[in-house]
Amino acid sequence: MTGASSGIGEATARLLAEKGWRCVLVARREDRLRTLADEIGGEVEVCDVGDRGAVEAMAERVLERHPAIGLLLNNAGMPARGTFLTVDPDLVRRVIEVNYLGGVWCTRALLPGLKWGAADGGSHVVNLISVAGTVALAPAGAYASSKHAQLAFSRSLAAALKGTGIQVHSVLPGFVETEGFPQKGVLGSRLLSRFVIHPPRVAEAVVGAVEKGKREVTVPWFPYRQISILQALVPGLMARFVGVSDYRPGSV
Ligand SMILES: NC(=O)c1ccc[n+]([C@@H]2O[C@H](COP(=O)([O-])OP(=O)(O)OC[C@H]3O[C@@H](n4cnc5c(N)ncnc54)[C@H](OP(=O)(O)O)[C@@H]3O)[C@@H](O)[C@H]2O)c1
Repeated sequence: MTGASSGIGEATARLLAEKGWRCVLVARREDRLRTLADEIGGEVEVCDVGDRGAVEAMAERVLERHPAIGLLLNNAGMPARGTFLTVDPDLVRRVIEVNYLGGVWCTRALLPGLKWGAADGGSHVVNLISVAGTVALAPAGAYASSKHAQLAFSRSLAAALKGTGIQVHSVLPGFVETEGFPQKGVLGSRLLSRFVIHPPRVAEAVVGAVEKGKREVTVPWFPYRQISILQALVPGLMARFVGVSDYRPGSV
């Protein structure tokens, strides 16, 4: 699983380990990964998922140890706060490389293991996306673009792998309080602040998606699923509201 050194990835690793999975923990901060691996009996792979060569080398090492893989969680991700007019151009590119392409490279490189896993009783790819994959708020434009691309990847991968025994699940959280995304301190809208959840809730959604074979899960369901549906049904109306959410001045 990628992005296991904090937040949603760390919480999901803990929950999966409780359920008997042996997790290979992937991220860049080795010290954090080692501490968690010692605690849950996992393995560590230091890798920048935005670097395709590094992902291929990581996958080779993992496949040598584990020819069959039961679950790949593409969770590593970073924020990119600011509108398209203000955000640093390098960040526009980097957020695509990490949030979107990182999952593409990991899935392609680990596919042989997932195929063996499928032959062994079934395997799963979970893409940790965001409600920002369905709605684009002005102050998170580059981030939302990376998540829209990631959702398209996840949906088209599900179609491409149909009938292979590899199930693909998309998990779309709303605002979650984590190190990389400290939502409570920065959200301008008091209403949105009321719907901030914590990583264990998302971990439950990830495991639930796998165990129940759910293709697309929004967590929490209310109000985020309704927001995604409104965006699809009445984009003109939504365009009036997507500007209301902003980060507090000085917090980006
Ligand atoms: N928090 C939210 O409100 C929210 C809402 C919806 C979706 N999400 C998504 O949830 C996922 C997890 O985020 P989080 O909220 O749990 O944030 P987090 O606590 O900051 O965790 C992000 C994880 O991704 C890893 N990561 C970042 N860049 C990486 C890279 N280039 N290569 C490898 N690993 C990298 C980080 O580890 P290292 O720094 O050690 O590499 C860390 O383990 C992300 O995809 C995010 O977009 C978050």
